[in-house]
Amino acid sequence: MQVQVVYASRHGASRRYAEAIAEVLEGEAQSIDAVKSFWGDAIVFVTGVYGHSLNKDMIQFLAEHRSELYGRMWAGVAVSLIPGEVEWHGSKIGGPIYVRQYLQLLERPPLALADLPGAVSMNTLNDEEREQVNEVFEILGMTPADLDKVDPTLVWKVANRIKEIARQC
Ligand SMILES: Cc1cc2nc3c(=O)[nH]c(=O)nc-3n(C[C@H](O)[C@H](O)[C@H](O)COP(=O)(O)O)c2cc1C
Repeated sequence: MQVQVVYASRHGASRRYAEAIAEVLEGEAQSIDAVKSFWGDAIVFVTGVYGHSLNKDMIQFLAEHRSELYGRMWAGVAVSLIPGEVEWHGSKIGGPIYVRQYLQLLERPPLALADLPGAVSMNTLNDEEREQVNEVFEILGMTPADLDKVDPTLVWKVANRIKEIARQC
């Protein structure tokens, strides 16, 4: 089975996971900009969460290619900072909720859905982005002083764990 891993990544976390998943499944990871056709028997989509929504570039990509993707086998991965399901201003949010957004974008049921821990390097963000991340930290019960404690190497660790587990299977 040929696996095509398609990602949209702003700060690199989804790209790293996409590359790790592609390595494990002996497929190929491609950024949405590099996708010329859908050749995979199965397609794995990987993207980060911004403002409680999957990355808009991925949403737009899926909407634009909806007809080509119709009937294809797929899996969806959401990369975010909020690990579990939480209630926020009357809505449910968090990794397990974010990843379900794929279900509204693709017709057929997925092979799998997964939410993985993201990371962010605060010094790469502009003021508006910092504010959004601040809100996420508030939800997590952390203060702005904790912002720079987010460990960007977490993504490497989880990606490597995915590879290790796959090697043992
Ligand atoms: C501006 C901004 C907004 C974000 N909003 C959320 C959010 O609403 N919920 C969440 O869990 N994580 C949020 N995150 C964390 C990202 O999902 C996380 O950094 C992820 O690793 C990004 O993936 P990427 O680097 O592949 O784009 C946000 C990050 C940034 C920079």
